[in-house]
Amino acid sequence: MELVPLAPKCGVEIKGVRLAQAEGETLDAIRSAIYTHGVALVRGQDDFTPDAHIAFAKRWGGIDINNYFPLTDEHPEIAVVRKKADQETNIGGAWHTDHSYDQVPAMGSILVARLLPPSGGDTMFAHMGEAYDALPQGLKDEIDGLQAFHTADHVYKEDGIYAQTDMAGDLRGQGLKTGAVHPVVIRHPVTGRKLLYVNSAFTIHFVGKTRAESLPLLHRLYDAATAADNTCRVAWEPGSVAIWDNRTTWHNALNDYQGYAREMHRITLSGEPLAA
Ligand code: SIN
Repeated sequence: MELVPLAPKCGVEIKGVRLAQAEGETLDAIRSAIYTHGVALVRGQDDFTPDAHIAFAKRWGGIDINNYFPLTDEHPEIAVVRKKADQETNIGGAWHTDHSYDQVPAMGSILVARLLPPSGGDTMFAHMGEAYDALPQGLKDEIDGLQAFHTADHVYKEDGIYAQTDMAGDLRGQGLKTGAVHPVVIRHPVTGRKLLYVNSAFTIHFVGKTRAESLPLLHRLYDAATAADNTCRVAWEPGSVAIWDNRTTWHNALNDYQGYAREMHRITLSGEPLAA
């Protein structure tokens, strides 16, 4: 197995591995690469069928079924991240980390390219360990000990963000209520590294402050998190698979392929409670 960084501070390409067969020490090495680099891209996985995808996720650990994205009858563990050729809105087209609105957020995801536009449709990632490390000491002191409230209700509810778009009819879960409080700086559950854990999609306010009072500091953190040298780009090809750690990264699915369809299969991996 060979590891080739995608960018100096974020992401790695793993070469010389067949995910459909990976287990034991190989799986441990993949896990370790993702905990360190945030996201791993593995190309050429032409035998990574839906059944192989599910089997790999089960070897990794538990699967969290997504409450909002379309599921297939044949493989309900797989969430379909689909944009049709005649749709303008995509799913996940803003910086976020998945499921931070859950009390025990998902560990990460395994995303498989099933149908790609002729160009565009890349996914950007940003590394939250590097983002935290690069904060000025004064800002680190300011957020030390803070907690923040996260929810997805404003995104998915009947009159939420997606309801105003041409993606409205494709999503589920409009009646769900979500909400969780997490430390603003968490420790990675395995490596112990400090990670910035707020995100612009699902973090609403700091505990003890209103949304309006929270926004200036949140925006300073978001700007720092998405600094260009803290990001990397996953450029998809047929057979590409990306596996990422939601605690260590944010991601943003670029919506620059109007008039073409794109379909990805995502399995979300169960996580563990987060702590400062
Ligand atoms: C997502 O999980 O937010 C979607 C990512 C993508 O489609 O590239």
